[in-house]
Amino acid sequence: MNETIASDELGLATEAPAELRYTRRIEDLPGPKGQPFVGNALQLSGRQMHQKFTAWVREFGPMFRLQVFGHTIVIVSDAATAHSVMRERPDGFRRNGGLKQIMNELHIGGVFTAEGAAWRKQRKLVMSGLNAEVIRNFFPTMVRLTERMLERWKRALAEGRAIDLRRDLKCMALDTIVGIAMGHDIDAVNQDGDPLQRDIDNMFQRLGNRTTAAFPYWRYFKLPVDRAAERSFADIETRVTEFIHHTRERMEQQRHLQRKPANMLEAMIAASEDPESEFTDEELVANAILSVIGGEDTTANSIAWMLCLLAQNPAAAAALAAETDLVLGDAPLPREWEQMKAFPYLEAAHSETQRLKAVAPYLGLTANADCVVADTFIPKNTAIIVATAGEGRDEAQFPGHERFRPERWVAELREPEEEDPSRKLFPFGGGSRLCPGRFLALTEIKVVVAMIMRNFELEPDPTAPPAKELLNFFMAPSSVPVRLKLRVPPAGELR
Ligand code: HEM
Repeated sequence: MNETIASDELGLATEAPAELRYTRRIEDLPGPKGQPFVGNALQLSGRQMHQKFTAWVREFGPMFRLQVFGHTIVIVSDAATAHSVMRERPDGFRRNGGLKQIMNELHIGGVFTAEGAAWRKQRKLVMSGLNAEVIRNFFPTMVRLTERMLERWKRALAEGRAIDLRRDLKCMALDTIVGIAMGHDIDAVNQDGDPLQRDIDNMFQRLGNRTTAAFPYWRYFKLPVDRAAERSFADIETRVTEFIHHTRERMEQQRHLQRKPANMLEAMIAASEDPESEFTDEELVANAILSVIGGEDTTANSIAWMLCLLAQNPAAAAALAAETDLVLGDAPLPREWEQMKAFPYLEAAHSETQRLKAVAPYLGLTANADCVVADTFIPKNTAIIVATAGEGRDEAQFPGHERFRPERWVAELREPEEEDPSRKLFPFGGGSRLCPGRFLALTEIKVVVAMIMRNFELEPDPTAPPAKELLNFFMAPSSVPVRLKLRVPPAGELR
């Protein structure tokens, strides 16, 4: 895990650090016993690796250590320590080299793997494409895509066909992210087997396999699946380059789009055409691809987990349906941008979902210099893992922690003795590398879940296999054992 990166590449200050004060070293931290040579590596591989972290947080507390092939990894999960680490980026900590290497081998780069000056420049580019104004301009398209999903589901129920929620939510998220990141409607919801979707799935499969593998076999030999992932990347790159080319042409003809971009790609192209920006075409392509990778499964998995939890908790589902009815009246889904501020219970249900089912359960970082974290001396190049669900399963922090109870996130609804938990979890990371897509994700989650709750009842599906947690790079449910049933009385006819 340890590696060397030149300090100018990281944009680090070269001044001598102030004297470090601490009372313990990593060797003083608790941690699970490992095996000779491999240490804890075998306990860390596999699709349930994140659950191992959660179990260890319970056993060893908010800060503990692991050994992997002779390298030390420190895990932190309490809010104060995690925020102190995340805040020190990009100068104090960089993304973990192991993850970066795996992503770079799959040609996934952009802002996520960049550091120092290159990160600052690309972060600006990505933020220009994901700011509130761009999302607001894209909102009518998002509503249209959600309406299309509603129509499909209503048709399926009228014709007595089963709804495959896992598939449909993924397609819907892909349509949305390709819509905003590329300005193109691929209609994955209605067109089975879009090549872009197949290629993105291939990349995720490889990312998931490689980040949870005990041994990096692909560096020594390639299996057919590894060659297929390489072809998929080449195809995605060709498609994205075409999207960029067409968008540039359209923006040449419609100059007003420079001032009022309707999607992320237009906004990034407008930013890159500023003579002072120095954004290259490679950066544009890499970040458009990264956004599609970062924006599909995160949102789809979050909605899927929320539906699973709501189906098992009818009181919470009823409270959410009541909120949706109140906000939407007769309308079958939110169509007004201002309505996005009117769903406190839905936002709480999302936070509670991330507490129990964090879709990005940990961040892998590396210390750029000797430093002190929570009174512990951390030598330069030590790997640190931040568990983003924090102490979400700690009974002292979240009384009744096994229960799905959105009320704990709403000031007027929580028990008088309960604290505001909002800083205790960090599902979108934190500090200057906080997820730039969170506003888009929350908007999409609100539109889609409000549409579902306004039009359907959720029922557990006893014939479907239970939803198991699978780390597929992001944490996904293995199935969505939920049935949709049209609500009686149904929402008014589409207006
Ligand atoms: C529920 C949905 C989502 C979750 C839970 C999530 C979570 C995260 C997390 C934990 C990080 C790491 C932050 C850090 O290092 O502090 C991250 C970074 C990132 N996310 Fe998201 N994300 C979501 C949706 C999205 C969407 C929709 C997009 C794209 C359009 C996106 C694009 C990115 C990018 C580009 C980064 C890298 C930022 C950087 O390194 O500066 N994410 N996300």
